Amino acid sequence: MTAAASDEVVVCPMAELPPGERCEVRGALTYGVTVFNLDGELYALLNHCPHRGGPLCRGRIRPHPVSDRVGYWEFEREGEILRCPFHNWEFDIRTGEALYDEKVRARTFPVEVRDGQVVVRVRGRRQVTR
Ligand code: FES
Repeated sequence: MTAAASDEVVVCPMAELPPGERCEVRGALTYGVTVFNLDGELYALLNHCPHRGGPLCRGRIRPHPVSDRVGYWEFEREGEILRCPFHNWEFDIRTGEALYDEKVRARTFPVEVRDGQVVVRVRGRRQVTR
């Protein structure tokens, strides 16, 4: 068992979070915290959309469509954009920034792997284990 400080959440064993997957701790910080593995790098987001409080981290991960002319588009940033299931606002998983306005952000947290466990620092909250 990994020792966790009072402001940390043990999310899951790293072995259960391969690239392209996500792991959620329900109840952490009321809404839950989800860790995403993007090509081996870990990012933690609060499962609470800054728009109207939707369960952001349960949304689909989509590429970002870009277009330079009518009737044509391409997709970029495959696997990096999270779409809220309530009203489809899109967020950069790495930063929490909304794509349409960088001033709107989902809450993010520092995350690390310790003794094979994924651990999120949530500052000032009680420990929650999965
Ligand atoms: S609550 Fe997430 S887009 Fe509206």
